[in-house]
Amino acid sequence: MSDHYFEYKGVLFPQMSTTVEDLMFVENEFQVQDDDIFNVTYPKSGTTWMIEILSLIHKNGDPTWNKTVPNWDRAPWVESPTSAEKLLLSKERPRLITSHLPRKFLTKILQGSKAKVIYTIRNPKDTAVSLYYFSKMSVFYKDPENMDSFLKDFFSENLPFGSWFKHVKGWMEMQGKDNFMLNTYEDLQLDLRGSVVKICKFLGKELDDKAVDSVVENVSFKSMKENNMANFTLLPTGYMDHEKSPFMRKGIIGDWKNHFTVAQNEHFDKIYKAEMQNFSMTFPWDTEIQKLHELSLK
Ligand code: A3P
Repeated sequence: MSDHYFEYKGVLFPQMSTTVEDLMFVENEFQVQDDDIFNVTYPKSGTTWMIEILSLIHKNGDPTWNKTVPNWDRAPWVESPTSAEKLLLSKERPRLITSHLPRKFLTKILQGSKAKVIYTIRNPKDTAVSLYYFSKMSVFYKDPENMDSFLKDFFSENLPFGSWFKHVKGWMEMQGKDNFMLNTYEDLQLDLRGSVVKICKFLGKELDDKAVDSVVENVSFKSMKENNMANFTLLPTGYMDHEKSPFMRKGIIGDWKNHFTVAQNEHFDKIYKAEMQNFSMTFPWDTEIQKLHELSLK
């Protein structure tokens, strides 16, 4: 294990972004309100995109909040130091709460709560590529030597927040509950407006067409890249160095094709297939994996 990380209950966490005390507090004592909205993701799956969407929906399409308050104050990461305090002091209702925690760490505090959870997932290949670059530019992750060593860590739970597979399977256990919504990064890409409307419906928020237009306009990749309340350029370079790789990097589907070798891709497919074989759901990217698998059988 790198000295960048510490382990708590079998999962690694970045030394720079949380502590055991914070995690224990969130796990056992954080007071969830029934109207809270949780934005949950495995890192690099569309977390900040969802923060912008939720913030704009919350303000009925008015972008002022998004353009004047940093995302970490609008929707604090509950596991980060000072977040619990920020959330307690927050006058906003509902509270927007972000988290990368695997479900087991939030099960107790969400038990019996009506708080809504939106879980966003992304093709793990694109998530891995995005995380590779994030690991290079941010102090929170260990700088990977190369893609091979990074993928080795990705598959062996040697990265913060643990295994992508366990994260997804854990949160998907909430599927079917009234207070749970599954969203994919790919759905946001392919039908942003439709996704915003679905999210509004889930939250019980009625926005008129003009307000929905404003949400869509203000959460485009270009708008977010230019908004320093959303793109993390307010953080000192010691935390994130955008010269190495911008936080708002490419924002596309399928960038893994530009990065993985044939061997890395085959290895990824093999592990994905083994991990997800008993999982009764298909995701937007599964058809592609299936096609590749079919080709390999020919
Ligand atoms: P890339 O590195 O592939 O560009 P997270 O917010 O979970 O950390 O995820 C960051 C990833 O989401 C980055 O992916 C970033 O570019 C992408 N992203 C953020 N906002 C986006 C938007 N409005 N449209 C498309 N992609 C976006």
